[in-house]
Amino acid sequence: MEPMEIFTALGTPAGRADPYPYYAALHDLGEAVTIAPGAVVVVGYDAINSVLRDPGFRASDTDNFDQVLPGWRQHPVFVQGADWILNLDGPRHARIRSLIARAFTARRVGGLEPAIAQMADDLLDAMADRGADGSVVEFMHDFAYLLPVTVICELLGIPEADRESFRPIARDLAGVFELNDLESLPAIDSAAIELLAYFTGLAAQRRAHPRDDLLSDLLAVSDADDSRLSDAELMHNLTLLLVAGFQTTTNLLGNGLQIVLQDPPAGDAVRKGSVSPASFVEEVLRYDSPVQLTSRVGYETKVGGVAIAAGDSVTTLIGAGNRDPRRFADPDTFDPLRSDGGPLSFGGGAHFCIGAALARLEGTVAFPRLLSRFPALAAAGEPARRDTFLLRGFDTLPVTVA
Ligand code: HEM
Repeated sequence: MEPMEIFTALGTPAGRADPYPYYAALHDLGEAVTIAPGAVVVVGYDAINSVLRDPGFRASDTDNFDQVLPGWRQHPVFVQGADWILNLDGPRHARIRSLIARAFTARRVGGLEPAIAQMADDLLDAMADRGADGSVVEFMHDFAYLLPVTVICELLGIPEADRESFRPIARDLAGVFELNDLESLPAIDSAAIELLAYFTGLAAQRRAHPRDDLLSDLLAVSDADDSRLSDAELMHNLTLLLVAGFQTTTNLLGNGLQIVLQDPPAGDAVRKGSVSPASFVEEVLRYDSPVQLTSRVGYETKVGGVAIAAGDSVTTLIGAGNRDPRRFADPDTFDPLRSDGGPLSFGGGAHFCIGAALARLEGTVAFPRLLSRFPALAAAGEPARRDTFLLRGFDTLPVTVA
């Protein structure tokens, strides 16, 4: 197959359901391949790592927006997105990122552990009630969606009473990462407008009565010196935190559970403690990465032996790098005890995931609790994958718990 054919196949239902054979075909072609003039796909572990760590490659900034989406300024989601650190480079990226990163100190993230454990236990109690008589419980709906969004609400300081109405809006906005056609754009734009209005209102409350939460901390920085963090930059990046941390962590939980349902000894090993929760989570991240790709704008250089020109579109296939046979022994085997770990799932370099420690914490708290609480946990019918490529996960994962 030609490189372009393989890449196109990844966008078909078959490729979305199981991209791994296509990744293997790409690995056979090399570390990186040109799929069309000006479009390079990077599949090798080392090559992806070097692109992500190389400041010569730009994120998808406003120049790029102008090229690929000339009408972006009419869309609230892109106006907000233009301020997202995910889409910024250089000093502006570093300035805003360092302020937000302060909120993700090991102390603040670690301090959330008891709250996450409590939230997980509450959700497991509800699952236990629902499934006590052998009824089917829907893991994605009843656990995997609820835990991460509740955790982010806790982190940001969103009051409990507001969380219920918040979830569907967050879900709609997360659709921006999977924008295949412009049809879904109105719903995404409305979610962006609604969230911004919500955060603006909450900010007014926190200004009047600061609390010990991330929003109050960031408002203090912004109010003290607008050149360090403008109000718009702050508000827009709050929406980023919500969407970047929500569907991704949901997928980590769902993808991990599906592995256990298909390979029960993998779950038993966590229950018995012969595999640590941390090793289990790392291998889930590698084996079935919640984020399958990211992209950069190229500059004149070479990657994996392939020439890149300024302005080229460079797609780094993280999910493929995690299965690179040059990097991982037996890459298609799920082996939490492997000694050659180190997935690319949180990216690398300047844009390395700011929420990585939080996502890992959620996984390491949730999986052992879930597995030991339900020793008889089993699949109950066919799971439904989300028909998406970039964010890989499930829509439904029906299980029985008793
Ligand atoms: C398993 C869960 C997660 C995965 C797999 C994941 C993956 C990633 C990846 C691959 C990137 C880099 C994108 C790039 O280089 O273009 C990234 C960036 C980012 N992530 Fe995560 N993420 C997860 C959870 C979270 C959480 C929980 C949060 C926050 C609450 C978060 C917030 C962010 C932010 C703000 C960025 C942008 C950083 C920057 O551009 O400087 N992520 N994430």
